[in-house]
Amino acid sequence: SVTTSEAEKHAAATYAAGLVEDGMRVGLGTGSTVAPLIPVLAARGLNLRCVATSVATAEAAVAAGLVVESFDALPELDIAIDGADQIAPGPWLIKGGGRAHTREKLVAVAAARFVVIASHEKPVPRLTPPVPLELLAFGLESTLMRLGQATVRGGVLSPDGGIIADWTGAFDDPAELARRLDADPGVVGHGLFEPGLVSDVVVATGADVEHTRF
Ligand code: A5P
Repeated sequence: SVTTSEAEKHAAATYAAGLVEDGMRVGLGTGSTVAPLIPVLAARGLNLRCVATSVATAEAAVAAGLVVESFDALPELDIAIDGADQIAPGPWLIKGGGRAHTREKLVAVAAARFVVIASHEKPVPRLTPPVPLELLAFGLESTLMRLGQATVRGGVLSPDGGIIADWTGAFDDPAELARRLDADPGVVGHGLFEPGLVSDVVVATGADVEHTRF
C-alpha cells in the first residue's frame, strides 16, 4: 500500500542519514524517497554542506535548515544519497523518473560514496525499459532517427533545458545500451547508472532495512 511504501522510504532514508558524519559534504538526490531524508538529516544537527540535484530538493533542504551551496562551490563530495526507479543485480540502476538524472549522475560521480535508498518494490531481477534520456534540442530529429527507439516526453525539459525522452527498446545487456547511448553526440545523459557508480544500496522491506555495500 501507499502507507507501507511511505514508511519504507522513511526507514531507508533514516538509515542513510545515519551514514552521514559531522563535517561532510553531502549530495542530495531528488524524489519521494529523498524527501523524508531531508528533515531526518537536518534533525541530526551536524555541521554539513550540501549540494542539491533539483530546485525542489534545494528548497526543502533550506526550509529544513540545511546549508545548500552551489555545486561549483563544492565540486567534491564525501557522500551522495539518492533514490532509484529500478535496482538490478550489479548493482545497475535506472533513474530519471523525475527528469533530473543527468544532474544526479554528475553528483553521484563527484561523491566518494554513493548511497541508493529504496522501498521494497525497487529491486528487480533485471532492468526493463523505459530508460530516461536527456537529449540536446539541436539536431533532435537526427538524434531520434539514430536512436530508433526513443520517445520524447512532450514539453518536458530537464532542469538544464534538455529534452526529456525515453529509450523504449528492449535490451538484454545494460552495459551495451549504456555504451551506445554514451557514444551518441545528441545524448546529453541517460538514466542507466553502472555498477562502478554505486557504493551502497539500502532497501527497506516493512520495518526491515537491508544495507549492501559494493
Ligand atoms: C529523479 O530524477 C529520479 O532519478 C529519482 O531519484 C528516482 O525516480 C526515484 O524517485 P522516487 O524516490 O520518487 O521513487
